[in-house]
Amino acid sequence: MARRSGPLSGEVTVPGAKNAVLKLMAATLLADGRYELSNVPAIDDVATMGDLLAALGVTSHIDPQRRDVLVLENHGSIVPEAPYDLVERIRASIVVLGPLLARCGVARVSMPGGDDFGKRPIDMHLKGLEALGATFELRRGYIEARAEALHGADITLDFPSVGATENIVMAAVLAKGATVIDNAAREPEVADLCHFLNAMGACIEGIGSPTLYVHGVPQRDLQAAEHRVVVDRVQAATYMAAVAACQGEVVVRGAQAEHMEMFIRRLREMGVQFTAQTDGVLVYADDRRLRSLDVQTLPYPGFATDYKPLIVTLLTVADGVGIVTENLYPGRFRYVEELQRLGADIRTDGHHAVVRGVASLDGAPVRAPDIRAGAALVVAGLMANGETVISDVHHVDRGYDDLVGRLSSLGADIERVR
Ligand code: UD1
Repeated sequence: MARRSGPLSGEVTVPGAKNAVLKLMAATLLADGRYELSNVPAIDDVATMGDLLAALGVTSHIDPQRRDVLVLENHGSIVPEAPYDLVERIRASIVVLGPLLARCGVARVSMPGGDDFGKRPIDMHLKGLEALGATFELRRGYIEARAEALHGADITLDFPSVGATENIVMAAVLAKGATVIDNAAREPEVADLCHFLNAMGACIEGIGSPTLYVHGVPQRDLQAAEHRVVVDRVQAATYMAAVAACQGEVVVRGAQAEHMEMFIRRLREMGVQFTAQTDGVLVYADDRRLRSLDVQTLPYPGFATDYKPLIVTLLTVADGVGIVTENLYPGRFRYVEELQRLGADIRTDGHHAVVRGVASLDGAPVRAPDIRAGAALVVAGLMANGETVISDVHHVDRGYDDLVGRLSSLGADIERVR
């Protein structure tokens, strides 16, 4: 339950990124040994991925002394079968396909589930892995994959897909020869995975650029490693948006401004002030009304689709009209109906949402349709008059580490109710 709040003040520390840690966990399938991942967020998806890895033969536990450290152990007895009941809970689980194929030469992975926003195909994952020598059959909801020996290849992705890039890189790490991936995704979480793989003994160049060069290494050259998970830019953006919504001055500790350039640029245009610090970003918003603007989502370094519900929420009370265009997921406007329940004036037409700023929102019961939209509805609740009760918050727990505790520590009037 959230009530109108602000101004916010103080400091909030942002944990590691969901979209990085899940892939780092999958990468531990590639080599035996004991891994330590630090800055791991306490989120449900990490537990779910842990369950999936346990079924595949990699055990994991949180270090009781250091709660942000996840220890994973690969003893070399991998069972390359990812069952439906685990895979359907989390879309990111499809990234076990590349490492399983590379390690075992065979894999049987259920077709993925995860967030329900529009069609999320995996054709680019399969095409890329086929180029490396894999063959696939789809049988009764399962992808049955085979590869006698993976070999390097030149691959150009039709679109810089995050998951496809990650799957192909993880398979290419153990392929014979060199792989070039053109039009690769450049998201900081993809770069984080590549750095981790290099720490394990892989040889990846061009990290953070649209062309990745992967020089395959023999299995014996890969070993377990330690790694600190990159800070979550979407959680960081959520706290920044909360300041924009409620006013105030907050240090978002850990936030890396260079990973969030487009988000910060757009919020600056709306009237929010940012100062990069050595270990974080200071965010300041005064009592002047936010200004509207137009935004379109694009692959990194463009404005991330995961930020979109936050900006739409801020636009609902900004001065003027903003047009938000979704270029990645056609169906990702479901939370609009929930914002309308709070009094927002939004019209959607295909990929576009036209948001006409109103003077204020009014609290009401709403439902979180997915992780990002759920967090945005929390921000909306903090600026709406009266009380907003947000249900289905289990979606938010998938990707946010103590959102309620962190927001309350900044002075937000929010509590978790059963
Ligand atoms: C990842 C993130 C998600 C983020 C998204 C885009 C994780 C766990 N999730 O998802 O939070 O919103 O990146 O930044 O890291 N596509 C195809 N064929 C494919 C693969 C993708 O058509 O084989 C399409 C998708 O349907 C979508 C677009 O490409 O329209 C982007 O998808 P992709 O970059 O692959 O996102 P994910 O890795 O699924």
